[in-house]
Amino acid sequence: MINRTIEIAPSILSADFSCLGDQIKAVERGGAGVLHVDVMDGHFVPNITVGLPVVKSLSGFTRLPIDAHLMITDPGTYATQFVAAGAQMVSVHVEADAHLHRTLMSIRNAGAQAGIVLNPATPVVAVEEALQFADYVLVMSVNPGFGGQKFIPQSIDKVKRLRRMIDERQLNVRIEIDGGIDRSNIEKVVAAGAEIIVAGSAIFGTPDAETAVKELRDATVQWV
Ligand code: DX5
Ligand code: ZN
Repeated sequence: MINRTIEIAPSILSADFSCLGDQIKAVERGGAGVLHVDVMDGHFVPNITVGLPVVKSLSGFTRLPIDAHLMITDPGTYATQFVAAGAQMVSVHVEADAHLHRTLMSIRNAGAQAGIVLNPATPVVAVEEALQFADYVLVMSVNPGFGGQKFIPQSIDKVKRLRRMIDERQLNVRIEIDGGIDRSNIEKVVAAGAEIIVAGSAIFGTPDAETAVKELRDATVQWV
């Protein structure tokens, strides 16, 4: 498990949108690896956030790859539009897509990395057949919809089981984790096998987003 690349992925959901550009520059200075953008439609999850025009503006603004986490019904209809808008990573919920294989292939064919997302109550086995068509799997460690929720501790064992499933198949699939991550639990999720660590309120809920990213990175330094 040594020599994995651990990336911090700040979630702009918790940012101050009135100065989003400044906030993104701060996390860039802090050493963020990816910019996580939560897209919510008010149907798949009970909240509405941002969509294609925001991804388009940000892709021309930041040097970080944009990771679009689609919490929408019918993600297959929209996934490639997010790639066209500039997202380099696009993930869809397994619970929302009856044609996951097709959607993953369409994301890859459009030139981006394809991710599968699992809600907390969705078993790891739900990704088994699709794993070879994915570049990463996102394990939700809260129920999607809102920032600032409490980390579900059983997610650590879930990440370990998913890591085993990926390693047994010798696949090059990264694990991302999202929800309730902060300095108190980041080491545990990284030790379990997660490599892309999303954090919203632990970064943008503090007065100094740059330092918050640095501190999360420092907590994982033994793994880098
Ligand atoms: C929740 C979103 C998360 C959220 C995480 O549905 O997918 O990305 O922003 O926020 P925190 O880190 O505050 O739990
Ligand atoms: Zn997210």
